[in-house]
Parts: sequence; C-alpha cells; structure tokens
Amino acid sequence: MSETHNVRFEPVGIDIEVSEDETVLDAAFRQGVMLMHGCKEGQCSACKSFLLDGDMQMDRYSTFALADYESDEGYVLLCRAHAYSDLEVELINFDEEMIHSGLPVVTVTATITELTNLTSDITRMVLTLAEPGSLRFYPGQYVDIQIPGHVEHRSFSMAAPASPDGRLEFIIKRYPGGHFSGLLSDKLTAGDSLEVSGPYGTFTLKASSDRRLVFAAGGAGMAPVLALLRQLAEAGSERAMSFYYGARTESDLICDAELTELKARLPQLTFIPCLSESWPDHWDPATTGFVHDVVERHETHLTDSDVYLCGPPPMIDAALALLSGQSVPQEQIHFDKFTVTAESG
Ligand SMILES: Cc1cc2nc3c(=O)[nH]c(=O)nc-3n(C[C@H](O)[C@H](O)[C@H](O)COP(=O)(O)OP(=O)(O)OC[C@H]3O[C@@H](n4cnc5c(N)ncnc54)[C@H](O)[C@@H]3O)c2cc1C
Ligand code: FES
Repeated sequence: MSETHNVRFEPVGIDIEVSEDETVLDAAFRQGVMLMHGCKEGQCSACKSFLLDGDMQMDRYSTFALADYESDEGYVLLCRAHAYSDLEVELINFDEEMIHSGLPVVTVTATITELTNLTSDITRMVLTLAEPGSLRFYPGQYVDIQIPGHVEHRSFSMAAPASPDGRLEFIIKRYPGGHFSGLLSDKLTAGDSLEVSGPYGTFTLKASSDRRLVFAAGGAGMAPVLALLRQLAEAGSERAMSFYYGARTESDLICDAELTELKARLPQLTFIPCLSESWPDHWDPATTGFVHDVVERHETHLTDSDVYLCGPPPMIDAALALLSGQSVPQEQIHFDKFTVTAESG
C-alpha cells in the first residue's frame, strides 16, 4: 500500500493528506480544496506552484506548461505531482473565494437527450443526469466525459447553469477522427449513456467584484461564457459587460437566439462578433481578424475590468500577452484553455 504524506499550502495555510499514488491536485479535489487548475494533464500551466520543501516527482508533462528552467528553479505542476515526503508548497495563483468552495467531485451517469449540429463542425449536446441533483457545479465549470469503451476521457464545459431537471448542455467542436468529438457525427445518438465526472475548473464569476466584465471566446469557447452570461441574467446583474466572440466566417457564428435573449435580459451587454477568415461586405472592418486583435483595437484600458478568456491555446496565449502589456492585475484575469489531450497522457 502506498504511503500518505502531509502537504501544506502557503500562503493560505491549508493542509491536506496525499497518497503517493494520487496527484496532489486529485488529493485536493478529494478533500474539497479547489486549487487553481485547467487541463489536469500537464498541458496548460494553470496549476503551476513552487515547491518550498520536500520530495516530489512529476508524471509526464508539456514543457509549454512548465519550461525546464522553471522546473530547475523549483516550480511544479500540481496536476502531475506525487508526494514522496511531507511537502510545503507555495501557491503562486489562488483565489480565496474559490479555494474553500470546492464541490465534491462525483462520477455519474447521464443520457444523451439532444444532438444538434449548430454549424458544419460544432454540435450542441444535451445530457440528462440519471439522478437530477447528483452533480453540482458552478456556471463556468466543466466535466470529464469518458470516451465510450475507453478509459480515457475528454473535458467539456457546461453552457448553462445547473438546472433542477439535471440538464447539462455542451457546445462541442467536432474534429474528424477525434476520439470523442468524432463520435458525434455518426456513432453517438439520443438515448446513449455517458459517464461524467466533475465538477472541475475555476472559470467562475467572482461574487466580490463589481468591475466591468470583458469576455473573449473562440469557437466552442462560447460554452462557459454562455453559462456565465446566463448566470448574470438570472441574478439581474447590472454590471457593464462586453463579449467578443471569434469565428472564421459568418456561417460559423453560433447561439444567435440565446444571445438575443441574453441581450434583452442584460441591456448593458455588448456583443461583438469577430470574423477572421472572410466576412460580408457590410461587416464592420474594426471587427475583422482574430478575436484578440479585435479586443486590442477596442479595449485600451482593461485594468478596470475582470477579463474572462476561453478557447484554443493560441488564442488564450495571444490574449494573455495583450493583458500583460496593459498591466491587468493577475487576479482580474480568468481563462480556460481548451488544450488537446497529450498522445500518451
Ligand atoms: C478545461 C477544458 C475544457 C474544454 N471544454 C471544451 C468544450 O466545452 N467544447 C469543446 O469542443 N472542447 C472542449 N475542450 C477540448 C476537449 O476536451 C477535447 O480536447 C477536444 O474535444 C478533442 O477531443 P477528441 O477526443 O475529439 O480529439 P482527440 O482524439 O483528442 O484528437 C484527435 C485529433 O484532432 C485534432 N484536434 C483535437 N483537438 C484539437 C484542437 N483543440 N485544436 C486543433 N486540433 C485538434 C488533432 O489533430 C488531434 O490529433 C476542453 C478542454 C479542456 C482542457
Ligand atoms: S497543467 Fe496542471 S492543470 Fe493544466
């Protein structure tokens, strides 16, 4: 049987017990401590922390998430880290509101109740939980869906807040040959069961802030932003907010009806669709190009805003560089990188 060690997180002064055969991040989930994380697979760097003391070893990870020089300096990825002695870890990125708000991670069964193609490569998938209420989550969070017949899973963000009837809505980009998304074209169908684990993710609204909100998303990154906008509408929020959404062409724009309804409920919401590949003659030239370029053109003082970014890694990295250039404080920046699962874990 593997040994258990104590891990202490600074500067928050929280202790957890970690067994050698689990990652520090998984042990924290198990004990209701919500540390910063994204992919949980050593790809995105959201869980990067500093090892102050102790013996730790890491599973395989991407050097995009943790460069060799950072590892040499003592930085670690908690989603890959196993403790082999008691540890002291400094969290370099944490959220006081979130850390104690951890909902229990559960594995539940759900049935596909809707599969609708929204564009040539984006599908809306709706699941219904076998037991409504068995999976609790905050808007903006995601679940891991097991690939049928495999041990592997893929992560997908809910596009709406939790509902009493156990409805989970997803917006999924289909990749030809994709182990999960490829099944949406012809293999999966309404009535099929899926195994879902969660909730995960820290892409949630911070209740304590009343700053202006700026959302930027690309492709299926629409999903968690839609969940946050629906949460704001339900709460009758009066915060000023802008949502920049990037697609390649006009026919790749999605969720028009949902956004029209949200604009009626949130009159202070400005929606700015951005087209990167081709656009009709009447299209405003200021909203052409990649979504981060359009944000840069329109937003010159983001230091007074809470910024939420969601989409593929290159989009997030470009937007983070823009925010860093404007000196936006770290605690005002929230992002979910839709990283691709590494070939062999
Ligand atoms: C926190 C998180 C939340 C996520 N939420 C969503 C979501 O709400 N909606 C959504 O659609 N996806 C989301 N993803 C991505 C999702 O988990 C899968 O990685 C994606 O659906 C591809 O899985 P797959 O099994 O279909 O393809 P895989 O079998 O993993 O990949 C097959 C091939 O498809 C291509 N491919 C796959 N993904 C990409 C990519 N991102 N960019 C370029 N080429 C790619 C590559 O060529 C790859 O080799 C999220 C990821 C993370 C980490
Ligand atoms: S690298 Fe650890 S959560 Fe993404």
